[in-house]
Amino acid sequence: MIEDRKLEHIKICLDKDVDASHNYWDDVILKHVTIPKVDLEDIDLRVEFLGRELQAPIIIDAMTGGHPVAKKINENIARAAEELGIGMAVGSQRSAIENPNLEDTYAVIREYEVPLRMGNLGAPQFSLGYGEEEVQRAIEMVDAHALELHFNYLQESVQPEGDRVVGGLMDKLGQIAKKFTLVAKETGAGFDRSSAEKLKEMGFKAIDVSGVSGTSFSAVEFYRGGKMGKLFWNWGLPSPYSLITLRDLNIPLVGSGGIRNGLDVAKALALGANVAGIAKEILRFATKSHVAVVERMEEIIQELRVAMFLSGVSNVEEMRKVDHVIKGELRYWL
Ligand SMILES: Cc1cc2nc3c(=O)[nH]c(=O)nc-3n(C[C@H](O)[C@H](O)[C@H](O)COP(=O)(O)O)c2cc1C
Repeated sequence: MIEDRKLEHIKICLDKDVDASHNYWDDVILKHVTIPKVDLEDIDLRVEFLGRELQAPIIIDAMTGGHPVAKKINENIARAAEELGIGMAVGSQRSAIENPNLEDTYAVIREYEVPLRMGNLGAPQFSLGYGEEEVQRAIEMVDAHALELHFNYLQESVQPEGDRVVGGLMDKLGQIAKKFTLVAKETGAGFDRSSAEKLKEMGFKAIDVSGVSGTSFSAVEFYRGGKMGKLFWNWGLPSPYSLITLRDLNIPLVGSGGIRNGLDVAKALALGANVAGIAKEILRFATKSHVAVVERMEEIIQELRVAMFLSGVSNVEEMRKVDHVIKGELRYWL
């Protein structure tokens, strides 16, 4: 059952090492500016993303739903996101589309004034019959400002029960992309330029790159018995590489995949992201309480502020233009 699988994913991500072997954010170095531009406390972290104003350029990205444990996690994240004024996405809503009794495990986030609420569905389902109706239901379920459609073909390929179909997908997405606010999202294997161009053309409003650096869903599926998961553990495009190759595409970008702290957020901005997306780093706090999420996020936001202070900028737009050095493995990619 999907709801059991979701719980398994959470347990594996909490208990096992599921990270990519290399975190490519370590290959990005921001250049120090000796004299900061403004007082640390005067750094303006506010951004507009998908027409919504956020107090910091961060979203807590899609993780869960479809189970009582997941409901509490979503509630803790939503309450913290309201308090911090940042965005959030729920995990794939497929379980509730198929079993409406599970809707409340996602819908709980409607009780909080989260400035950017995003729903989430898997793109492969649109080759298997999903269409406008399911999009509408997912959006209404969480009163979403936007819906993430995740492209997780790596995971589908290595998981025992995966949906390895793509036929008819682009036609279907072409029909819905013009009617709804859709964000195209990977889940840890990164977005390539050509796929991103096609989706932009079709009317997608933003791309969440979720590349290689952090959670590997191939690793997660390996622990669930998908033997191929080990072989494809590090398959995909590094998160910073995806950002660099998409930054002049002129579509809003979520820099995600392996973001662990506020310095990584600053690096994502410097490479062209409009906001950063954080998933696994927040998971263990979200299983505890909303206070734990707020406390960890406040640390991350303060780290971001310090990185911006030392980069000699006063706001996010300026941070998106700062100079940086690329070293190591990421340099090979470029
Ligand atoms: C426990 C867990 C469950 C996830 N479930 C989903 C999901 O349902 N839909 C989705 O689009 N991404 C899902 N993701 C992927 C994340 O949104 C993100 O793209 C990926 O984990 C990379 O970010 P990270 O390295 O910060 O974890 C999940 C991640 C985790 C850790």
